[in-house]
Amino acid sequence: MKRIGMLTSGGDCQALNATMRGIAKGLYTIYGKDNVEIIGFEDGYRGMIYDDYRIMKPSDFSGILTVGGTMLGTSRTPFKYLDQPDENGLDKVASMVHTYRKLKLDALCVLGGNGSLKTANRLSEEGLNVIGLPKTIDNDTWGTDMTFGFHSAMEIATKAIDDIHTTAASHGRVFIVEVMGHKVGWLTLYSGIAGGADIILIPEIPYDMEKVISAIEERNRAGKRFSIIVVAEGAISKEDAALSKKELKKKQEKEKKGMVYPSVAYKLAAKIGERLGAEVRVTVPGHTQRGGAPCPYDRVLSTRLGAEAARLIEKGKFGVLVSVKNYEISNIPLSEVAGKLKYVNPKADIIREAKLVGISFGD
Ligand code: F6P
Repeated sequence: MKRIGMLTSGGDCQALNATMRGIAKGLYTIYGKDNVEIIGFEDGYRGMIYDDYRIMKPSDFSGILTVGGTMLGTSRTPFKYLDQPDENGLDKVASMVHTYRKLKLDALCVLGGNGSLKTANRLSEEGLNVIGLPKTIDNDTWGTDMTFGFHSAMEIATKAIDDIHTTAASHGRVFIVEVMGHKVGWLTLYSGIAGGADIILIPEIPYDMEKVISAIEERNRAGKRFSIIVVAEGAISKEDAALSKKELKKKQEKEKKGMVYPSVAYKLAAKIGERLGAEVRVTVPGHTQRGGAPCPYDRVLSTRLGAEAARLIEKGKFGVLVSVKNYEISNIPLSEVAGKLKYVNPKADIIREAKLVGISFGD
């Protein structure tokens, strides 16, 4: 009997269920339904730490290809606190290792983003057979060209920009759509291009407020009635980018405390309104970007990644992230992935191409 553990960790996204289905169906085909037992941990690593799990049945994996969220629940278990005992003095890593051994698991599949994959790598170093699967709407996981969730979130963010377009065309206004992504701008970049944004602001390209203003003015001069700015949650100005990490944190905390601006979009709106005397409106699709059914692309990607995880278990290849490399499903050691982020390269072709069609990055 093969005993395989599964968990979903960190912020949720679309296609978590589809990925678990891919793993389970792959395992049932490889070993036969009667020879596999899948153990699902509740709420991510929390379930492993506190021995909270359920034995899954083959029927649990039917009818979930199109269902958003995660049937196992998820939670964040920050890596930086992993080695700090919990409030009752429990050693979290030791507890997870104990649960794995107690359940006599042959492997553990972790569906997670960057922080969760650091923990996955840690468990692998502790001697557990771990396979990671790249989950996040941010598409910022190192070592894979694509993460599941990204395309679904892109569709939602793009739809928000499309909808703003029609109302923007009716009014002579500046519209700002804030897209998720604190550290990286993939989602903003792709949905911004797909939605025909005039200005795209991402964390990797600090913006100059004067350049943003002149891009709007240029559009006004050309007789355009409106401008659409798509900004990532984590976009920062050139001045802020010049601050040390500590100084920036202090400044952001101060702004948050005083509730001066709830987020970067409101800060931009205030500045643009002040400078141009323009009517500015802000739209924040927020967590809707992680909600709902996975798009067809993600269903296919998740099915492939999940099935490949089953194949890697059969081959006994562990300590890896199932990944996408040049449109093929591949894998990469978790040790190479852990602790790194895949940023947008400001010099990438896609940025040059976007600029060629007239999109301003405020730089
Ligand atoms: O990492 C996924 C993500 O949706 C980010 O894009 C976003 O910044 C963050 O999670 C939001 O986290 P939370 O759901 O904890 O508010």
